[in-house]
Amino acid sequence: METLPKLQFLLLVLTILFFSMAQLKPAVAQQLYADSRWIVDGAGRRAKLACVNWPAHLQPLLAEGLSKQPADTIAKKIREMGFNCVRLTWPLELPMNETLASLTVTQSFQNLGLSESLAGIKSNNPSLINLPVMEAYKSVMTSLRNNKVMVILDNHITTPGWCCSANDGNGFFGDKYFDPQVWMQGLHKMATLATGFSNVIGMSLRNELRGPRQNVDDWYKYMQQGAETVHAANPNVLVILSGLNYDIDLSFIRNRPVNISFTKKLVFEMHWYGFTNGNAWQSGNPNDVCGAVSNNVMSRSVFLLEQGYPLFVSEFGADERGTNVNDNRYFNCFMAMAAEFDWDFALWTLQGSYYLRQGVVGMEEFYGLFNYEWSGIRNSSYLHRMSVLQLPFQGPGGQQTGAHKVIFHPLTGLCILRRSPSLPLVVGPCIYSEPWSYTPQDALWLVGAHLYLQAVELGRPAILGTMSPTDTSTKWEMISASKMHLSSKAKDGSTVCLDVDPRNTVVVTACKCLSSESSCDPASQWFKLVDRTRL
Ligand SMILES: *[C@@H]1O[C@H](CO)[C@@H](O)[C@H](O)[C@H]1NC(C)=O
Ligand SMILES: *[C@@H]1O[C@H](CO)[C@@H](O)[C@H](O)[C@H]1NC(C)=O
Ligand SMILES: *[C@@H]1O[C@H](CO)[C@@H](O)[C@H](O)[C@H]1NC(C)=O
Repeated sequence: METLPKLQFLLLVLTILFFSMAQLKPAVAQQLYADSRWIVDGAGRRAKLACVNWPAHLQPLLAEGLSKQPADTIAKKIREMGFNCVRLTWPLELPMNETLASLTVTQSFQNLGLSESLAGIKSNNPSLINLPVMEAYKSVMTSLRNNKVMVILDNHITTPGWCCSANDGNGFFGDKYFDPQVWMQGLHKMATLATGFSNVIGMSLRNELRGPRQNVDDWYKYMQQGAETVHAANPNVLVILSGLNYDIDLSFIRNRPVNISFTKKLVFEMHWYGFTNGNAWQSGNPNDVCGAVSNNVMSRSVFLLEQGYPLFVSEFGADERGTNVNDNRYFNCFMAMAAEFDWDFALWTLQGSYYLRQGVVGMEEFYGLFNYEWSGIRNSSYLHRMSVLQLPFQGPGGQQTGAHKVIFHPLTGLCILRRSPSLPLVVGPCIYSEPWSYTPQDALWLVGAHLYLQAVELGRPAILGTMSPTDTSTKWEMISASKMHLSSKAKDGSTVCLDVDPRNTVVVTACKCLSSESSCDPASQWFKLVDRTRL
């Protein structure tokens, strides 16, 4: 009888110990699952993938930037910039070509004449220089794991080098450098390797399928086999499938689901750049182009969310100098859709420069978050702006709240906020947004406050007022082909649009280039009503 309380005490201690150990377990050690359109952890809570691409598929066979900074510093910086994950690329020859895989980092760089980079690696990452390139790859995975950064292993290409073109022999199953059997052996090796890395949560089977050989039947045949290969070697990773035509087309999935033996792990990926549509953004009216391109992206890929699959937008990005008009206009449209659909993503890209790209030593990357020296951030306003996408607006877990809207301004990455009843409305961080509702009468209602957004006078701030049924200045329609101009009537009856002035005040101005005109950019007047269900 006496021993029972002691036993109970011991059990209690063990229980507490167990739960505190469970708490200590790093978040990244968890397997993730696909639960309808959400990627979730084992407890069913959404784990939004906010990734950045980190290439390791070019000729030197080493993740970029290690001549500039220690791997650990880069991994820490990735977290500091708000990302929780890296899409780490690899060329198929890394696991499959013994001649290459047995090279040490020193040999690989010497063979390419990259002596300056090699000296940089020697000083920033001395432990890597005598490792075989595969061991160096694993060492980068370890640095990411130590810093709680999740990893998606992406088979980017077969032959190490810059990717991609239609006739590079790497585009589709059966191309000169793309033997499906070798590819599956490579997937098997990398998936097996990943069993030793708890932070590897997904495998992207093949980047940007493309070229004259591409066809839907072979896509199913080999992607299904590849998916089964990965699953057999490593049941813990999400299996991520890329579409056709440089990963812009998954429309064929609509009427023909993928047939695989496992559940809760299938994810699709999509790429979307400004240049995906050539020069259309610059040569057309941004409303017209955004409307048309969004519809296209919807029917080719984004419909998958509605069909109950997660969609990982694994490449997107813009020239951060801000001088590329095509990119700027695309990015405004992209930001709106990315917030609206709250998809998982990987930004292109991390690297500020390359050891060697397309024959150019030390090429700069103007889409990269890091500056040329990887010593700082290339454009902090770009990072701030896109960082709104890093936190989930919706999905299971977190602190849930009643479904409502936030009024998102894609040009700034900010949302309309009421700082205080006496100050004008501004745009600020979306996490501080009050809940809004868009009523059947087209009014924008500040939930709970009985106040409505109202246009008063051209050139003046928008205000919050009470609504009378006859007052047209509280009615806001979403006009133009982009449906992103919020248009209302001023007190004098003139048509006006909501806008944001350079001081971030929400103002009412004349509607800008609603259609046709291509020389003007209306993006300061673009707003998107974004659903939010969590704080
Ligand atoms: C392996 O790599 C070497 C060195 O780049 C190359 O010459 C060879 O063709 C590759 N072998 C295969 C099977 O790809
Ligand atoms: C799915 O694959 C299994 C196993 O290969 C096969 O038996 C089944 O017929 C396939 N189903 C469809 C609808 O193709
Ligand atoms: C950063 O991006 C903004 C917006 O595109 C641009 O105006 C600015 O010049 C850029 N800054 C740098 C340092 O490139």
